[in-house]
Amino acid sequence: MKNLIKILSFNTFIPFFYPALMLPLRSFRKKAINLLNFKAGDAVLVPGVGSGHDLSMIPDYVSVTGIDISDVMLGIGKVKMKVMGHEKHIKLLKMDAEDLKFDDGTFDRAILSLFLTVVFDPKQAFAEVVRVLKPGGQILVFDHLLRKGTIPCTISKPIDAVLSYSFASVTRTIDSIIEGQPVSIEEILPGDSVGFMKAFLLVKDKQPDQV
Ligand SMILES: C[S@@+](CC[C@H](N)C(=O)[O-])C[C@H]1O[C@@H](n2cnc3c(N)ncnc32)[C@H](O)[C@@H]1O
Repeated sequence: MKNLIKILSFNTFIPFFYPALMLPLRSFRKKAINLLNFKAGDAVLVPGVGSGHDLSMIPDYVSVTGIDISDVMLGIGKVKMKVMGHEKHIKLLKMDAEDLKFDDGTFDRAILSLFLTVVFDPKQAFAEVVRVLKPGGQILVFDHLLRKGTIPCTISKPIDAVLSYSFASVTRTIDSIIEGQPVSIEEILPGDSVGFMKAFLLVKDKQPDQV
């Protein structure tokens, strides 16, 4: 129920203008994905994979599982992957990222692109990603998240009240989303001069007996 407007939006009007919105972000997205230290045979999770803008930038020597709640976004992604010949190492599934159907410690790396600002409960979705990641696994967050202590301008709050139910929130902070999770921020890459887009490289902490 909570995802109703979101599912409706991502299954109707958003897919029409989405590719145009993504075009200017292409080179920064590539730079961000390159922060990940991919190894042959890695299992990579992409929650909220959408129509697959990250997928062609991931090397074909890893196996990728992309999940999303929108049939239309997934459908576009599947067609794109088929046309580009990336089908063999990429699996796209319909699944709610807030309730992942994977065992603990399944994945080596995760890519969360423009997802934590969109998913209804980003803390729950992030906790799920951490759960299914192996200790020492990497998480790339490519998004317009704020840092703690940044006060969103007065206009962003009313805009957020409308946008967060259908498209994306503009007032979320990475710090509040990752709070309490066993992760460390390793690197932050600014995506533009005003600091709107950022890439955060995080690592799931190892327990003392796993070091
Ligand atoms: C802004 S798009 C980003 C798509 C892609 N990651 C990219 O960078 O272009 C956000 C995606 O998250 C999906 N989404 C939102 N809530 C979700 C949830 N609870 N579980 C899985 N996917 C979700 C939407 O359907 C949408 O495709």
